[in-house]
Amino acid sequence: MKLQSRHLIGLEGVSADEISLILDTAVSFREIIERPIKKVPTLRGITVLNLFYEPSTRTKISFELAEKRLSADSITFTKAMSSVKKGETLKDTVRNIEAMKINMVVVRHGSSGVPYFLTQCMDSNIINAGDGSHEHPTQALLDMFTIRQKYGKLKGLRVVLIGDVKHSRVVRSNIWGLKTMGCSVAVCGPSTLQPYEVEKFGVDVYTDLDEALDGADVVNIMRIQLERQQSGFLATQREYTNLFGVTAERLKLLNKNYTVMHPGPMNRGVEITPEIADGKSSVILEQVTNGQAVRMAVLYLLSGKREDGE
Ligand code: CP
Repeated sequence: MKLQSRHLIGLEGVSADEISLILDTAVSFREIIERPIKKVPTLRGITVLNLFYEPSTRTKISFELAEKRLSADSITFTKAMSSVKKGETLKDTVRNIEAMKINMVVVRHGSSGVPYFLTQCMDSNIINAGDGSHEHPTQALLDMFTIRQKYGKLKGLRVVLIGDVKHSRVVRSNIWGLKTMGCSVAVCGPSTLQPYEVEKFGVDVYTDLDEALDGADVVNIMRIQLERQQSGFLATQREYTNLFGVTAERLKLLNKNYTVMHPGPMNRGVEITPEIADGKSSVILEQVTNGQAVRMAVLYLLSGKREDGE
């Protein structure tokens, strides 16, 4: 079994067998990062460019550590310190860096479609680390890994994704991945933060949080993207917290042995209370640890599908 594509642009169209391959491979890497010496020679000789045009804490550091622990050579590009400031285009930037003989690119960008664009103008393997409101596939993979780790399965579980469904690339990747793996998926948020015809994603759609949580196993709470709220999508932040903030009282609606997730960064006191974020049903930091193992698996599996056939 191999991945079909030499790139990871999104989870839309990725098969259940491929997702299982990534998650199963990540199990071995999860064990390696618990060892005293967390390094294997798997990607020796491979050079990875981390191309970050948008801020990131978890994804950037997680990929950087994954690359180091696989013995790859890695470099990180940050827009603020680059010649983009002198007007250089994205295409010129990546083609110049690729001329220095890199093999793989991990890209985060504020515009949807940039990872796909890079597949058209570079020879390297491209991994999407979040593009606009399109997809964030490694986040959804680590979310699925974390759910599977706790329940021993994905199929048949009820997962509710709460928040800014319209702008969230994490929601989109989770919908594709979870549905492919046989979960029942619901989204919940204000109607102004739901995309047009969201039902066509094949999910249950709620604007009432209590109804959405009733009988669910997993609640994955998205960040309210405060930087996008100038456009009148929300009446007030306080109203959002009253209607969609996850509280201890509301969690009683979930099934026993429920799980609370959040991809981060969190707005504590807005979409989630600090008690829940740090409570015994929260797996938020476990998600972060698992993210490194999942990213090691993705780098390893894609490195076996290089253009030069090496
Ligand atoms: N979850 C996530 O993508 O976090 P960062 O923006 O910090 O990478």
